[in-house]
Amino acid sequence: RKADRLRELIESARAAVAFTGAGVSTASGIPDFRSPGGLWSQNRPIDFGAFVASPEMRREAWRRKFVTDDATRGAAPNPVHHAIARLVAQGTIACVVTQNIDDLHRVSGVPDDRLIELHGNGTYATCLDCGLRRELADIRPAFEATGRAPRCPACDGLVKSATVSFGQAMPQEAMRAAERATAGCDLFLALGSSLVVYPAALLPRMAKRAGAPLVIANREPTDLDAYADLVLRDDLVEIFAPYAEAQTVR
Ligand code: OAD
Ligand code: ZN
Repeated sequence: RKADRLRELIESARAAVAFTGAGVSTASGIPDFRSPGGLWSQNRPIDFGAFVASPEMRREAWRRKFVTDDATRGAAPNPVHHAIARLVAQGTIACVVTQNIDDLHRVSGVPDDRLIELHGNGTYATCLDCGLRRELADIRPAFEATGRAPRCPACDGLVKSATVSFGQAMPQEAMRAAERATAGCDLFLALGSSLVVYPAALLPRMAKRAGAPLVIANREPTDLDAYADLVLRDDLVEIFAPYAEAQTVR
């Protein structure tokens, strides 16, 4: 059985990488991007160039940001997050590389030195010019009162959610750290990602080249399934619930 094969692979791993996408958070009530009803089916994404160039686009980006946050307020880690955190704590998973911006791996207890957020973090904002961190709760009242996107109190730069938009540079250091972890891993778990955006499409291949078994767990097929040693198409919660047990209390 596939579940047994997964257990064998996990039990013999000492430095696994868990590479996660939006599919690990759908059970927390956060929609993914490319499924029917996903975020991109409602709105086309606003790319970085448009955000920088246009006050209207910035306003629209911030409006959507707060709508999305309201819709997902109170979202908590689900059994998949808990299973991953537990496998990190016991030394099976050396590193969690996530494309998610929802902070739920951190909330579930994955320490910062084991967590790489390739697409940033949506729980705060930063100034694009000076990097000053701004809290969303401090930005929102003025945005709602004036309808104007926030600017930096220190340098008047544009303030943006601390996430990576299309057309925006990936965080170099995070990317290098993800490549290092992948090159050194002994098992690569690609979980809940359609594996279509860069570097998602590259890291699993890199793991294979480094000699690590590749597991892809995703409800829908991906272009990399043919490279994988094990492909699971079940719900991630079903697959990982057994690994989350005896934990969940942190
Ligand atoms: P996608 O929405 O592209 O893919 C999520 C995948 O998870 C889909 O293939 C679903 O079938 C699967 N899935 C959802 N819930 C599941 C469940 N409970 N069990 C099993 N599978 C499930 O999301 P990502 O691959 O994360 O980037 O998208 C990658 C990036 O594209 C995102 O980080 C985002 C987006 O543009 C930025 O915003 C920069
Ligand atoms: Zn600034």
